[in-house]
Amino acid sequence: MNKLSTKLAISFFLVVLIMESLLMYYLHRSMINTRVEEEFSLLLANGANHRDVLVEHYSETTLKHISLMEKNGNREVMITNKTGDIISSSDYSYTIQAAYQLIIKDIHNEKDEIIVSSWRESPYIMSVHPYKVDEERQGYVLMLQNTGSLNQMVDKMNMHFVLSGVTGFVVLFIVYVMLSKIITRPLMRMKEATEKLSKGDFKVSLPDLGKDELGELASSIHKLANDLERLQNDRNEFLAAIAHELSTPLTYLIGYSKIAMREGIREEERQHYIEIIGEEANRMKDLVKNLLDLARMNETAFDVSKETFLVRPFLENVCKLVASSYSLKEIQLELVCDAQLQIYSDRTRLEQIVLNLLDNALKYSNENAVVTLKAESKNGKIVVSVKDTGIGIPTEEIDYIFEKLYRVEKSRSRINGGSGIGLAIVKELVSTLGGTVEVTSKVGEGSTFTITM
Ligand SMILES: Nc1ncnc2c1ncn2[C@@H]1O[C@H](COP(=O)(O)OP(=O)(O)OP(=O)(O)O)[C@@H](O)[C@H]1O
Ligand SMILES: [Mg+2]
Repeated sequence: MNKLSTKLAISFFLVVLIMESLLMYYLHRSMINTRVEEEFSLLLANGANHRDVLVEHYSETTLKHISLMEKNGNREVMITNKTGDIISSSDYSYTIQAAYQLIIKDIHNEKDEIIVSSWRESPYIMSVHPYKVDEERQGYVLMLQNTGSLNQMVDKMNMHFVLSGVTGFVVLFIVYVMLSKIITRPLMRMKEATEKLSKGDFKVSLPDLGKDELGELASSIHKLANDLERLQNDRNEFLAAIAHELSTPLTYLIGYSKIAMREGIREEERQHYIEIIGEEANRMKDLVKNLLDLARMNETAFDVSKETFLVRPFLENVCKLVASSYSLKEIQLELVCDAQLQIYSDRTRLEQIVLNLLDNALKYSNENAVVTLKAESKNGKIVVSVKDTGIGIPTEEIDYIFEKLYRVEKSRSRINGGSGIGLAIVKELVSTLGGTVEVTSKVGEGSTFTITM
């Protein structure tokens, strides 16, 4: 009873059964009634006919003639006199007369009528037709119709109805089988597919079910399977990249610490190695911090508190933070921003974004380059851009630089100390603040990162 097909079939079955039964019952009734009414009116018309002839030419010969007319066939005629005795009859064997004698004796009808109408039980239906001769009431013309043929006809009809009922049942059963094939079988397969998914097996195959709801469900499951597989692959790749990312500085740390611990090594050499160890440890700390940031962003666990503030002083402050590292590499940092420009945003997050972009501009520019930090209002939106005259990004790489741990040239970035997380963080932050980030770049000429909010 838990199967959808069974539930569907039973409801369908009941509805059709009730409808079919009602329809059949109605048809059966009305067909039989029409047929019986027909017999009744034929009998009445015949009786009336005989009576009219009798009244017009009342004589012994007419009485005989009328009886003779009904001698053969299913009908019988009897004519009674004043006292109720049969004076003429087509029933020459007297059996019917004997059987109906009591009824005939007891007739008092004033007009043409059916007096025995129970066609199912009694072998004859009977009509009475009073007649008068010379304005004086004489007796009755009685018409009897054998009910055998009528019963036979009804029995035949009943058989036909039973036959069509059985056919209906068979058709219903076929519909049930088809329903279960068309609806429940694909559903069962989808259920199996989702069970496979939950067990971590993403190789599901479902038949093409067309464009109806079932088809849409199947293609959604397909899409879900593909997405899950891609997510799992992404996660695995990401974990492998992190492991790799951490293992490199760790190798340095172990190597340099071993050298630093050697005996007989000069003091300034030891100092140098310890400095390297310190630098690498710091890089690892930054990497872990960035990874944590990113993880928290994916969980959207960090909160955003927006406020309206002047852009220029805010950017001046950010420039101050990076000023020392810029002057160390002798790179010029320019700020272009209207003093009145205002923005509604989250200070801390925006600072994180701009710092990351300025950091990249610095890292991927050669000495004596110029970096321009610009903020302006365009079509009611605030546009912040960082433009550098650095090494640029190859066109085919631009699509990937926002991915986690992606670096254009692994060895080059390594020298610069990058781990490929900065832009992933920027992308997350910008989308959380409801903005977009775009890049234009040309190798050897420089890059421009534009944020629109
Ligand atoms: N201004 C730029 N000029 C040239 N290449 C860039 C620039 N900004 C980013 N890239 C390229 O995009 C890659 C990804 O940048 P991202 O900021 O995500 O990582 P990173 O700077 O290498 O490391 P991190 O920022 O995590 O310390 C960089 O490794 C670099 O190859
Ligand atoms: Mg970076």
